[in-house]
Amino acid sequence: MHPTPPPGGKVDSVVRILTGRFALLAAVLRLYGGSPIAERAHVLIRWLLCPMTKLLARLPAEGRLLEIGCGHGLFSNLASVSRPRLRVLGIDPAQGKIGFARQSIQGRSEVEFRCVRVEDLPDEDFDAVAILDVLYLIPKDEWRPLLARSLAKLRPGGKLVLKENSLHPAWKFHIARFQEVLAVRVLKITEGSSRFAFADEVEMVGILKEAGAREVIVTKIDRGHWYPHTLYGAFR
Ligand SMILES: C[S@@+](CC[C@H](N)C(=O)[O-])C[C@H]1O[C@@H](n2cnc3c(N)ncnc32)[C@H](O)[C@@H]1O
Repeated sequence: MHPTPPPGGKVDSVVRILTGRFALLAAVLRLYGGSPIAERAHVLIRWLLCPMTKLLARLPAEGRLLEIGCGHGLFSNLASVSRPRLRVLGIDPAQGKIGFARQSIQGRSEVEFRCVRVEDLPDEDFDAVAILDVLYLIPKDEWRPLLARSLAKLRPGGKLVLKENSLHPAWKFHIARFQEVLAVRVLKITEGSSRFAFADEVEMVGILKEAGAREVIVTKIDRGHWYPHTLYGAFR
């Protein structure tokens, strides 16, 4: 006997997914309604360039999330809006970005943003730690201690969600590097070392294991994107 198919076909489920994503984006963009148009455009472009919903799917439904290098707070806000029982702390050393992130809180008590460098992580434990496109701005010899500190912040069963651009495929890597040269060296939108550091999946898994990860799950999430997005789910 065949199981009864769910109501509606493939088209219906694609429409449902797209409608859900659009509603989430609209809800989060509304939080930046008081920010200058340039900042709102920055947040929207970031959403378009990074497959954030694929990262959101890896977060727990409740507990406490730390986002390191949260920038304007887009991912923290997406996490908080899509998971109302999650309490979110976003940290970033860039005062200006944290200012816009704080403006987006709009009275919600389950989200907080602090202007903190990764070297001074808060003295608290978390159910998940997220780091999205931050490592490439930090010299590679500092990655292992940073990741070790991040993993040490996890409660038992907690997860590190790390997203970086990898070196493959090469054409996507060259596009990503060109865009970062523009953002960091020319437009100076992003704070960090202007000598970028990238790694392929094998090297990154090795560094995560040296940092104390017991298990690392690697997922390419670059389909339909022109950057070589790679997601690492790491467990202590
Ligand atoms: C490309 S942005 C990504 C922002 C955000 N994670 C996102 O995905 O939209 C990189 C962020 O890393 C931050 N950053 C640079 N150096 C850092 C450090 N040492 N510790 C923590 N964050 C840092 C920058 O200020 C910037 O906001």
